[in-house]
Amino acid sequence: MPGNTSTPDWWRGAAIYQVYLRSFADGNGDGTGDLAGLRSRLPYLADLGVNAIWLNPWYPSPMADGGYDVADYRSIEPVFGTLAEAEKLIEEAHDLGIRTIVDVVPNHASDQHAWFQEALAAGPGSEARERFWFRPGVGDGPPNGWQSIFGGPAWTQVPDGEWYLHLFAPEQPDFNWNNPVVREEFLEVLRFWFDRGVDGVRIDSAAVLVKDLDSVEESYTDHDGVHEIYREWRRVSDSYGGRILIGEVWLPDQERFANYLRPDELHTAFNFDFLSSAWEPAALRASIDLTLATHVPIGAPATWVLSNHDVARPVTRYGRAVTSWDNAERRDGMPSDLELGRRRARAAALLAMALPGSVYVYQGEELGLNEVEDIPEELIDDPMWERSGHTVRGRDGCRVPLPWSGTEPPFGYSTGEPWLPQPAGWRDLTVEAQEADLGSMLCLYRSALRLRRELLGDGTLTWLPYGDEVIAFRRDSGLVCLVNLGAEPAALPESGSVLLASGPLDGDLLPSDTAVWIMEAR
Ligand code: NOJ
Repeated sequence: MPGNTSTPDWWRGAAIYQVYLRSFADGNGDGTGDLAGLRSRLPYLADLGVNAIWLNPWYPSPMADGGYDVADYRSIEPVFGTLAEAEKLIEEAHDLGIRTIVDVVPNHASDQHAWFQEALAAGPGSEARERFWFRPGVGDGPPNGWQSIFGGPAWTQVPDGEWYLHLFAPEQPDFNWNNPVVREEFLEVLRFWFDRGVDGVRIDSAAVLVKDLDSVEESYTDHDGVHEIYREWRRVSDSYGGRILIGEVWLPDQERFANYLRPDELHTAFNFDFLSSAWEPAALRASIDLTLATHVPIGAPATWVLSNHDVARPVTRYGRAVTSWDNAERRDGMPSDLELGRRRARAAALLAMALPGSVYVYQGEELGLNEVEDIPEELIDDPMWERSGHTVRGRDGCRVPLPWSGTEPPFGYSTGEPWLPQPAGWRDLTVEAQEADLGSMLCLYRSALRLRRELLGDGTLTWLPYGDEVIAFRRDSGLVCLVNLGAEPAALPESGSVLLASGPLDGDLLPSDTAVWIMEAR
């Protein structure tokens, strides 16, 4: 059965829910989400019908980049809880049929990591410095002109005059993956978490581990040498009986992307091409075709992703004049028609869930939350804000704590003050409000995930001819998915029974920006 977690290849058709722990649910009233909060809400995730959860980094961290600055890979951030609680979470989730995937961050650590502190103390030429990229500068400046992905130079100078490389914030020094000690350390980290029962890891910034520092041009993306690393990781995951490796691989070149999914490397990787696609029929169809053409020949299942903790929420994105996503051009604050965006996001959800492969749901997507664009400047936490000289507000707008219940903030999320303020307008979007409304986004997601478990997941699709404006395909089970992206209503098929629609149908017409699942008459 697709998505059945008891089968060894459960991941091929899974629905995976992304938990941004900091903002999911707060169990101790300090305003920050934690393991106690998550454990208390596991029944919600079981009701939603997901097969697995992926948690963003939960390790001790100064939170210079929301936990992607890891100070200790074998422990839990005290604000989130304890290792014992993490073990309980894994067990309780398993009891509910939910697998657990943790985030591993191999490209960089926190500057508070013991190894980096040791490297600072040990000084130039030491073995401790060889675990990172320390170099003398050129003249008064850094070793080269590489820029950080968050803005500003990718090098920071330490008091003894050397510089260290950080592709992200200065608090995130990059590991030197040419050093076998680094390689061995991460194999041990994988074993540590697999020994505690985790079912997979999501690999942060997976394509940038190997660097050529002699290059004047920035030279860190997708070096061939990175594949050797993942072959080693795969041997470890296979030795645990099929724990899975999921790559965060942002690469426009699909052939290069596919290399990460060879049978002895990663199991799956996030489909950012689909996430970035404009809400336009030709663009979406092309993205789906490209995805399948990339995955099918190598036997890897596709993934379908609409959002995560780094990108603007789909409700806001799809309501803008420009509906595609581009990391370099975030379009923060571009006006959005949220009603239109929500209608499209509902249709997009049915599209993503109907496609062959696995699907990701980022917390709050199932509630139809919008991007929060008016967080007061003094509360902005994302390092992009400082690094861009206050020109890019960054990613906090999709990381605002979830609204669970009640009519005013903190909406049952916490008994204290949430670490980012929640909009008062979310009173209509709480879990409690949506559970009581059969037409809500939450009810749509629940119904769709239930049907998906029975009828969809991995497999193949057959395109159906419904004209340029309608995306239409049939799945192996006989389920037909139609999405009308045109301005005019489109005719529904004459036979078959409607299982689910993203919005009201107009007799035998499918309105604009609406998706429907139909079971073919047999
Ligand atoms: C990708 C993560 O998703 C993002 O949140 C983080 O800032 C960077 N990698 C650096 O770790």
